[in-house]
Amino acid sequence: MPAILAIESSCDETAVAVVAAAAGEKARVLTSEISSQIELHQPYGGVVPELASRNHSLVLRPLVEVALRNAGLGIDQIDAFAATAGPGLASSLLIGNTAAKAMALAMRKPFIAVNHLEGHLLSPFLHATTVPPHIALIISGGHTLLIEVTTVASYRKLGSTLDDAAGEAFDKVAKMLGLPYPGGPSIEKSAIDGNPRAFSFPRGLMHESHFDFSFSGLKTSVLYTLPKIENVAAAVPDLCASFQAAVIDVLLHKSLQALSASGFSHLALSGGVSLNKPLRAAFQQACDDRKIRLSLADPALCTDNAAMIAFAALLRHQIGQSDPLNSPIHPNLPLVG
Ligand code: KG4
Ligand code: ZN
Repeated sequence: MPAILAIESSCDETAVAVVAAAAGEKARVLTSEISSQIELHQPYGGVVPELASRNHSLVLRPLVEVALRNAGLGIDQIDAFAATAGPGLASSLLIGNTAAKAMALAMRKPFIAVNHLEGHLLSPFLHATTVPPHIALIISGGHTLLIEVTTVASYRKLGSTLDDAAGEAFDKVAKMLGLPYPGGPSIEKSAIDGNPRAFSFPRGLMHESHFDFSFSGLKTSVLYTLPKIENVAAAVPDLCASFQAAVIDVLLHKSLQALSASGFSHLALSGGVSLNKPLRAAFQQACDDRKIRLSLADPALCTDNAAMIAFAALLRHQIGQSDPLNSPIHPNLPLVG
């Protein structure tokens, strides 16, 4: 049973996972270790690249050892080594890439470079035997993408964000409201006590016929609303609930539009923002009403992790693909084109 060890270090999480599967069988995650840097970056309200990269190099080696121990495998039982090649922070990508390449070289095994976005895109199918034709909505801190997926590696971009990513909008609005980083979970928590109709925030580009997104107008609208409120602290739950409702509305509307345009009846959500419970519920309800199948990634696979990278690498390995040891990292690596 081929086993892949993958490293994810594109941003502020150092992650190592081992995934294995016999041909035609479901993949098994033997271990998925994450060393989070959230606390390290929290005082700065965002990721500091130098701190991220230094911390990756400090924790990576012990994390690989823990991963192998928890997978119950020796390094000589790993059939290929993979790492995220991009998109991400150059100085962070380099750490994981170099480590995976060094292990591949030392063990004389293939190296597989994985696109972080493909990792997210495939994550809802980690426990499936196939990746069926579907519309994929990737909503993370750095990306908002609508993709038409015919099969693995056959992707057509339908739309993306013209400015902020959905997660970035959550993070920036949380910062404006004095809520802790990362903003998504803080906004979701505060919104529980708020009224989603208290403020009427704009739904950027929602009624345009294309599939691109824009969240900067929404973010600015929250900013301009603040000075008009007498007691901002008391209004935070309503602001959060109204902002969250606007994001969900746009994402859902565009996804349904993409499903009707493509004729597909299967939607998959991935990325950190897809952890949002009201968002999951709104998508589930809309899909149930329209007899559309909805695939959601396991919560542990929504935010950055190495299991999704190992899974994408495993699918490549199964068809005999690998990458040269001198393959570069790509901070702006696109998923398509
Ligand atoms: O996929 P991810 O871990 O990293 C990137 O590849 O960017 O996504 C992180 C993003 C952050 O912007 C974070 O605020 C957002 O996902 N996020 C959420 C929630 N949990 C994380 N957004 C909304 N609701 C959540 N519960
Ligand atoms: Zn990500």
